[in-house]
Amino acid sequence: MNIRDQFPALQRTINGQPVVYLDGPAGTQVPQRVIDAVSNYYATSNANTHGRFASSRQTGELIREVRKKLAVFLNADNENCISFGQNMTTLNYSLSRAIGRVLRPGDEILITQLDHEANRGPWLALRENGVVVREVRMLSDGTLDYDDMAAKLNERTRLVAMGYASNLFGTVNDVFRVREMTYRTGAWLLLDAVHAAPHMNIDVGSVDCDFLLCSAYKFYGPHVGILYTRPGLLDSLPTDRLRTQEQHAPFSIETGTLNHAAIAGVGAAIDFIASLGNGPNLTAHLLTGMANILHHEKELFHKLVSGLMNTLQVKLYGPPHDVWPRCPTVSFTVEGSMASHVCQELGEQGIFAWDGHFYAIRAAEVLGQIPFGGFVRMGLAAYCTHEDVERTIEVMKKHYD
Ligand SMILES: Cc1ncc(COP(=O)(O)O)c(C=O)c1O
Repeated sequence: MNIRDQFPALQRTINGQPVVYLDGPAGTQVPQRVIDAVSNYYATSNANTHGRFASSRQTGELIREVRKKLAVFLNADNENCISFGQNMTTLNYSLSRAIGRVLRPGDEILITQLDHEANRGPWLALRENGVVVREVRMLSDGTLDYDDMAAKLNERTRLVAMGYASNLFGTVNDVFRVREMTYRTGAWLLLDAVHAAPHMNIDVGSVDCDFLLCSAYKFYGPHVGILYTRPGLLDSLPTDRLRTQEQHAPFSIETGTLNHAAIAGVGAAIDFIASLGNGPNLTAHLLTGMANILHHEKELFHKLVSGLMNTLQVKLYGPPHDVWPRCPTVSFTVEGSMASHVCQELGEQGIFAWDGHFYAIRAAEVLGQIPFGGFVRMGLAAYCTHEDVERTIEVMKKHYD
């Protein structure tokens, strides 16, 4: 996939070597078209919405257009299912406060040990209202214990809040199976698709979830959080909102002025993914574009994982690395070295990788990794290359074989 010249950040060098960006799970680099969309917004149509003049009308139209693109991206019914926020965490907190107001003491919420804290903390906070929050177990291979979930799901469960994919292990959860389980009890299903959205087609229609969240900075866009809600559902929730703002979906959870310029960039990020595919319409372009991204990432992932497996001191975690669906994200520990030390070493050689728990802190606790500084995490993106992976393996072998 030859898209590298679209990404100005890939020109960066450290000690004369091009940077290898394996930090995508914490945020991808952005193509020039995203940078242009953000700066063009400021140059041409910067205004607040709802005014009776050109730049304000253009801003309103732009935001509507980006909602429409995201509705196609997620296969949502229409743009009124798409709300914006500062990031996923802030949107999820807003949603949890609204849901907290319609739950009664004794109602139950299921969260999981595998999830990012952004999909645990907001729900755990509802314990203050007498809501019972139960936690589904994670197995040692970084997959969910679905039997435990079935045992904990009952007629009092009002919400299952879980990840679509794990940002720690790349696990793709069986959300279709969970949806079947929740049908039996009538619980809402909320999916954190932040880690899944950069790597796979998300189809809220076929999963039939009630809520889904993602974050554009993980899929080549700016820092904007995105919330999908099932048609009609947001209107029934008492969100925090001013009496002066619009009281219905998608606006009723959007407090204050949105980041218009960044939203312009989100539209360009969708266009970027679409540009990697083909077909008669945006849906086809996005489906094939995303399939092409994953195809490329899979090839690199195979090479990366094989190299790491053959590095003596490395221990890989998570579900089997050659079984898909999964995300091209791998976490590992290095015998005798703190994760921070390994990432420092890599960073000095221009290889950018994260160490720690990546806010999937509960999973790291369950595996007993917190005292050792967590894991080293490497994640692939559309712009990564075979040379990137080869250089990474070379450095890893030099120091840790
Ligand atoms: C799986 C997952 N969920 C949620 C979040 C939080 O997203 P945001 O930074 O948009 O709040 C992240 C960020 O790393 C993530 O990886």
